[in-house]
Amino acid sequence: MVATHLDTESMHEHVVLRRGVRSGLPIVVAVHSTALGQAIGGCRVAQYPHWRDGLTDALRLAAAMSDKCALAGLPNGGGKTVVALPPGRALDAAARRAVLHDAGDVIAGLDGAYATGPDVGTGPDDMVTIAERTPHAFCRPVHAGGSGDSSGHTAVGVLATLRALCAERFGSADLSARSFAVLGLGRVGGHVLRMLADAGATLVAADTDEGRRPLADTAGAAWVSPQDCLTADVDVLVPAALGGLFTPHTVPTLRCAAIAGPANNQLDTPVTADLLHQHGILWAPDIVVSAGGIIHATAVELHRETSAQATARVHGIADTLTDILRTARATGSTPAAAARARARHHVDDDERLEPHERP
Ligand code: PHE
Repeated sequence: MVATHLDTESMHEHVVLRRGVRSGLPIVVAVHSTALGQAIGGCRVAQYPHWRDGLTDALRLAAAMSDKCALAGLPNGGGKTVVALPPGRALDAAARRAVLHDAGDVIAGLDGAYATGPDVGTGPDDMVTIAERTPHAFCRPVHAGGSGDSSGHTAVGVLATLRALCAERFGSADLSARSFAVLGLGRVGGHVLRMLADAGATLVAADTDEGRRPLADTAGAAWVSPQDCLTADVDVLVPAALGGLFTPHTVPTLRCAAIAGPANNQLDTPVTADLLHQHGILWAPDIVVSAGGIIHATAVELHRETSAQATARVHGIADTLTDILRTARATGSTPAAAARARARHHVDDDERLEPHERP
């Protein structure tokens, strides 16, 4: 059977767009695919110029989650929740609670087809609030029965993939010999910067929030503007903020040799992967690099593995990336194309199995 579920352009199984009854805010829950199992993906609370932009983002992010789960070898599909805040709108505690309950009700209405988790603009405590309306919320704090903050586990996966990338691109996995520009010092980016500093790497860092500068100082990273970070002359650029960074406009300005980071949807469109390739920049697909959080959370919460077992699985994404980079090199294709082919293959194989035989 030919699976088209993982084509980013393919139609989603189910999309709910609702004005929250309590908050009045636009809420989108996009379920891209349940071909492999329950769809999972975080709940993003962010400002958008228009709610339609939030809808577009949710659709793209949910589709990427299907590929991410397939490549991580998880028995899950992709979904995403987006709460689209109008420009300049901040949430006080009451409004936040209201909108999380609204989102929780939408998720509850999907009867387990989709489970959410933390994402840009939400954290473990928000999952507790969502869980007041639906049990389908990952990463509640450990004391509240969840697996806790996933950002440290995502960062562990990023470090593992950075080593694999350096081994492929520079012939050695030793991070102390390399320079990195970390763009975005949020929950995951902050961890990645500290871990790179511990590994002895040479660092440049940036964030739109000046308040995060002390993080860079502590890590011994040179603090630069986000623009200078993007175009820094380093071995590896690590995008750890919002997506859409690489475009036909920005790619010619880059001076890094390779890119790997946890930001979702780093390319404006899939063809930008070809452009990076033409510029001789090795791009590790974000859907592979950023999978540590979902791998850890599902291992602990769904499959009842110990944290140590889950962490071992997170390290496994380094091997996945190595395979993808080698396949790309051997076939003269881009890592993005190799990753997509691998994700499809995974689903095709799975669909040949009866449900009870699936992993
Ligand atoms: N931000 C994570 C992601 O979308 C959200 C998540 C974490 C979802 C853990 C489920 C479990 O990849």
